[in-house]
Amino acid sequence: METNHEREAYWRDSAKIKDFPALDESRQTDVTVVGGGITGLTTAYLLSQKGLRVTVIEASEILSGTTRYTTAKVTAQHGVIYDELIEHFGIEKARQFFDHNQQAVDWIRQTVQQKGWDCDFEDHEAWLYASSTPSLNKLLDEQKAYEKLDIPFRTASTLPFDIPIKGALIMKNQAQFHPLKYLAHMTEEIISMGGQIHEHTKAVDIKEDDDIQVEMESGHVLSSQHVVIATSYPFWDAAGLYFARLEVERSYIVSGVWTGEDPGGMYLSVDSPSRSIRFYDHDGKRGIMVGGDGHKTGQGGEHHQHIENLKEFTHAQIGPADLTYEWSAQDNITLDKLPYIGSITNRHPRVLVATGFRKWGMTQGTMAAQIMTDQILGVSTESAEMYEPSRFKANPSIKQGAKLNADTAFELVKGKLESASVDLEQLSPGKGGSVKWNGKTIGAYRDETGKVLAVDLTCTHMGCECNWNESENSWDCPCHGSRFAVDGEVLNGPALKPLKVIDTEKDR
Ligand SMILES: Cc1cc2nc3c(=O)[nH]c(=O)nc-3n(C[C@H](O)[C@H](O)[C@H](O)COP(=O)(O)OP(=O)(O)OC[C@H]3O[C@@H](n4cnc5c(N)ncnc54)[C@H](O)[C@@H]3O)c2cc1C
Ligand code: FES
Repeated sequence: METNHEREAYWRDSAKIKDFPALDESRQTDVTVVGGGITGLTTAYLLSQKGLRVTVIEASEILSGTTRYTTAKVTAQHGVIYDELIEHFGIEKARQFFDHNQQAVDWIRQTVQQKGWDCDFEDHEAWLYASSTPSLNKLLDEQKAYEKLDIPFRTASTLPFDIPIKGALIMKNQAQFHPLKYLAHMTEEIISMGGQIHEHTKAVDIKEDDDIQVEMESGHVLSSQHVVIATSYPFWDAAGLYFARLEVERSYIVSGVWTGEDPGGMYLSVDSPSRSIRFYDHDGKRGIMVGGDGHKTGQGGEHHQHIENLKEFTHAQIGPADLTYEWSAQDNITLDKLPYIGSITNRHPRVLVATGFRKWGMTQGTMAAQIMTDQILGVSTESAEMYEPSRFKANPSIKQGAKLNADTAFELVKGKLESASVDLEQLSPGKGGSVKWNGKTIGAYRDETGKVLAVDLTCTHMGCECNWNESENSWDCPCHGSRFAVDGEVLNGPALKPLKVIDTEKDR
């Protein structure tokens, strides 16, 4: 049985990724890239092509972040977005956003073809479909936006599945690929151009004078002229208050062998809960991947229920599939839905950051790499100003920012008021959750051997109470999306410090 209930994606099982040694010395490099996902590796690739000495450092293994858990549609169709972008930023900027993303699709296609990279790259149209009248109205507004922006499209009134719809808007000239096979090729080229990659090397701080020093947990330091932070959630905030400007959303995916006919195309619903559908090469057979059920991290309720929802939807509305893989992952969303790409703050112009891809990082991570490469090389990037992290847009940022912070305050108070209803002794092997212990509520996980790993649930970022994520055996914070392993170690920031460990045998 291929299913891995501990958060594994089909991509991982079907790609060969090399191991790289940890950094074992302090040294100089031209550019330090922190983070080995699509954003960091593409930036390293582009800079290496320009002759710069690039060092990529990765806290865990490369391609173990969100890039491993993506659906990997390579498209400029990011849900219903262009109508909203025209409203908030005007036609010119909305068109630039489309151009940057479409150029990323075309660049990936061209690179794969020129280099002959075997990565299951396929050209497809991207379908956005509406099943209700309110979403049809949104879709019609989006269609008008496509017309204003001159985006090539066609429409349809039915889908090639049993999903009843009111209409579909189809963007031409899009694609999909196997993200890990693609990036494994890119990694080899980075190395062949003289780049260096270090895994199990966690960056913990940045100091800046003439050079910029990135300090590792191990104590080693990389000094360089530029630093790129491509860690999804920026590991270093530089008082940029990113936690108050990024919302973290988790989604679920199921996949497996598809025994029906493949109609081609990649599909996304306008209605909630969202549904994302694509087909792919599954070990020589045709596979289907269905995603959706997104929610703010730490606020999603029963995780297995989301997986069941996707399985039920697939069997009832799409067709015959043997769904053996299931996983979930998270990505960051900015206040105004455009990514943050550029100097982390005005005070640190040579420390660049790229985040907030709203679950569209295959193209946005690629375009971020292109923009940051230009910025490092000093090439004028006027059209990229709209992504400057220090931008301030009154509408909709203020409203959305206030909502985000009110939501955090609510979660902070709610977490403090809640108490566990079960005793630690009642926790079965292989289970975790909030439990009563010694007159207080703590977090505990009992492994299969009966050993208890217990933690103080107070998030080390800003003090909200973490919730148990049963599908991935992690503690997830509902405020800004930090995640912690059962032993308290940080899995995702903004938190930098682990949860406090409680020894339930001793700490009475
Ligand atoms: C369910 C889901 C489906 C998606 N589907 C699509 C899709 O169909 N199409 C699309 O375009 N996008 C999609 N996305 C979005 C896309 O996958 C992400 O935007 C993209 O993978 C982000 O890549 P990244 O390189 O920026 O971050 P990551 O892949 O998360 O890489 C960041 C890396 O930084 C490392 N790191 C973190 N902290 C440190 C530190 N202190 N020191 C060193 N290293 C560190 C991490 O270990 C990680 O490997 C989806 C996202 C989700 C959640
Ligand atoms: S992530 Fe901010 S309080 Fe937990």
